[in-house]
Amino acid sequence: MPGTCVIGLQWGDEAKGKIVDLLTAGRRYVVRYQGGANAGHTVKVGNEVYKLSLLPSGVLTPGVTCLITGGVVLNPAKALEEVDELAGRGIQLDGDSLKISDRVHVILPWHFAEDKVLDSSTGGENIGTTQRGIGPCYRDKVARSHAIRLGDMYRPDFAERIKHITEAKNRVLAAMVTDGDFEPLDADAIYKQYSDYAERLKPYVDDTTEILLSSLEKGEHVIFEGAQGSLLDVDHGTYPYVTSSNSSGVGISNGSGVPGKYLDRVLGVVKAYSTRVGGGPFPTELDNETGQYLRDRGNEYGTVTRRPRRCGWLDAVAIRYTARLGGVDGLCVMLMDVLSGLDEIKICTAYEIDGKRTTVYPSHVDDLRRVTPVYESVPGWKEEIDQVKSYDELPAAAHAYLDRIAELIGCPVDVVSVGPGREQTIVINESLTRC
Ligand code: IMP
Repeated sequence: MPGTCVIGLQWGDEAKGKIVDLLTAGRRYVVRYQGGANAGHTVKVGNEVYKLSLLPSGVLTPGVTCLITGGVVLNPAKALEEVDELAGRGIQLDGDSLKISDRVHVILPWHFAEDKVLDSSTGGENIGTTQRGIGPCYRDKVARSHAIRLGDMYRPDFAERIKHITEAKNRVLAAMVTDGDFEPLDADAIYKQYSDYAERLKPYVDDTTEILLSSLEKGEHVIFEGAQGSLLDVDHGTYPYVTSSNSSGVGISNGSGVPGKYLDRVLGVVKAYSTRVGGGPFPTELDNETGQYLRDRGNEYGTVTRRPRRCGWLDAVAIRYTARLGGVDGLCVMLMDVLSGLDEIKICTAYEIDGKRTTVYPSHVDDLRRVTPVYESVPGWKEEIDQVKSYDELPAAAHAYLDRIAELIGCPVDVVSVGPGREQTIVINESLTRC
């Protein structure tokens, strides 16, 4: 099983980091292949809680090398901040434990300014981005003329490129910013700041594509850690209320440079309910006391932005779609403990639109806005389950809920998580932790 992939099947924040952490021991590399500092993963090891945004969760496991590959957009300040924070807590990352592709695109000051302006000018509901410059950086990557990759920062014309792009961006931003507080960006200051970042990042910079291909050809074990969730995929998600990268399973190859033949197991991570941050349709949203119950028990506030997350029932139509899209082999059902205490739990099994019932996920966001969820109710359970150690100890109602999810999605449940700690994880498919 050289390549194991861990992807989120909802709108992100499914606790993928915990699954990556569980699987990491004995693997050679953990790969972060898309997104940037918009993601946030929280991993609890003993009593220590680590909140990471750019660095893969694998950095917490000694002996594993973490790779940030070309599909990522890198905020250098954030990467260094996370490296420093870990060092302050006794985890030293050097050029052997962390490698960053020279192909990653770099987030620059104008990307933050553009993100702010563009997010509020959709002409409709705001996308509600994390304001981390993600969309504008990916846009420049695809447009090419104003993009800077990490490898460019070590070339003799770096100062010249910064000057040229800053001049162009100042003209564009002056026209875009209409609220009067536009301060032209200073090319010399940016050059100096980013040259300092480049110097500090130098030990980590490498050709991660070559490293990965060589490693997989030798049969070494690699984990691919998705960021965000499949419904935020720029091509296959709830466009335009998505992020700017391929955050579903289809993004693994293009973001990492690894062909599909090496990706032999895909784990789809879902919460036992649904959450969404930012704008966009959310058919099973619960804007009521039950939604607040889930938010409070699940501590549903963004890791990166602290925004309260929108909460709702599990949407099996959406997850069946993303599980098929990602070629998912098994499910990890997270935050099951949050559901304790509810009299009944609902699952959305179909949508009704224009009087017709369907289980096909709509391709246009306007249609998704118009659907009425069709629910099935299953009994809840009253007892707390956060200390439960095995599948058999779970209440019968929890078994019935998990069985129904597996049946509706068409994939077995391989892991159930009942709390944030490493020890609060029930591994049903034990072959996962063997390599
Ligand atoms: P962006 O990725 O900052 O451009 O934001 C686009 C959309 O994706 C917004 O609705 C964000 O809230 C959402 N988003 C981006 N990253 C994450 C994440 O890691 N978890 C959940 N939502 C995210």
